[in-house]
Amino acid sequence: MRVLITGGAGFIGSNFIRYLINNRPDWQITNFDNLTYAGNLANLDDLRDNDNYRFIKGDISNIDDVRAVLESGFDNVVNFAAESHVDRSLYDPGIFIKTNVLGTQLLLDLAQKTGISKFLQVSTDEVYGSQNVREYADEKSPLLPNSPYAASKASADLVCRSYFKSFDMPVIITRSCNNYGPFQFPEKVIPFFMTRALKDEILPLYGDGLNSRDWIYVEDNCEALLRVLESGDPGQIYNIGSNNELTNLDLTQIILKLLGKPSSLIKFVEDRPAHDRRYGLNFDKIENKLGWLPKIRFIDGIQKTIDWYLANKQWWENIISGEYRKFYEQHYRNLR
Ligand code: NAD
Ligand code: TYD
Repeated sequence: MRVLITGGAGFIGSNFIRYLINNRPDWQITNFDNLTYAGNLANLDDLRDNDNYRFIKGDISNIDDVRAVLESGFDNVVNFAAESHVDRSLYDPGIFIKTNVLGTQLLLDLAQKTGISKFLQVSTDEVYGSQNVREYADEKSPLLPNSPYAASKASADLVCRSYFKSFDMPVIITRSCNNYGPFQFPEKVIPFFMTRALKDEILPLYGDGLNSRDWIYVEDNCEALLRVLESGDPGQIYNIGSNNELTNLDLTQIILKLLGKPSSLIKFVEDRPAHDRRYGLNFDKIENKLGWLPKIRFIDGIQKTIDWYLANKQWWENIISGEYRKFYEQHYRNLR
């Protein structure tokens, strides 16, 4: 099996590549990534000499790059490549449309011509917008994105649907809840708060801190993605949830407690514009049709994540002292 993974130098993509190397050792994996601020080859250092893995630098929204990589021929494409941070999408929506919408369309278009057998589009629960308490979006729920990030992902999902309908392209979409685990870029709330708490820096909690998210350990998501890739039906959408719903305040208190840091580090700050109050997913379909259920309890996953960040301080120190600082300084000047 020859698989093209786009965005494989990012958080979920690098975990997925490692998951494939361990669980499908005969597959040939190509990682195609243009190494934005979020792409980091250090995430895959341990695989550099693996014969079944290669890295090609390229942009999914550049026709020459995409044409060149597809020339070698693939059975499957898994598209992780994206701009993925909501706060950044509030400053610069254009790059989200370029990468997430136009990039996905270009990839679909050229992949279609080479005759692949599956195209997996990695999407998000954010396309459904905010859910009321005790309401859960299923795969038929309306798309009501509220941030430019969510709108770009919803748009890409619709382009994927149209390639299935119009050209019979074997596209499958997954929509997962918030992931956490090793190698997550420290601008997303869990590693952001962990790395700041370790330095005794304040943790800026947006609004009243009662917005909630469902948290999936990244390895559970990788297992679900592989299940969908191997057994999912073209044209279908699969929600991937985890039943680990937490308010941001509870999440922060857990992180502080496990790190042995005081609650006084929490600072309530101005809310994020159009901040979705709650995401809730109904993921009965993937359980009923593909027999997948999450395995990792939040308390175990968060402990493993903390252990990883403690053991890999140099990895995140390199990031927070680099390019990332610029966004951080602009963000906290403008929003607060
Ligand atoms: P990430 O930001 O950590 O990684 C994105 C990767 O894509 C980076 O390696 C980056 O260099 C690469 N990339 C960006 N633009 C590119 C381009 N034009 N061409 C090639 N590569 C490009 O993101 P992540 O958290 O790993 O998310 C991966 C995917 O999963 C995204 O599509 C995201 O929307 C989706 N998703 C993420 C979550 C989550 O909680 N992190 C939840 C649901 C869905
Ligand atoms: P984030 O990790 O950015 O993921 P998403 O917005 O895609 O769900 O944020 C998770 C939650 O944490 C979200 O409700 C916003 C909140 N948050 C804060 O309160 N403070 C912060 O500094 C960040 C980055 C996020």
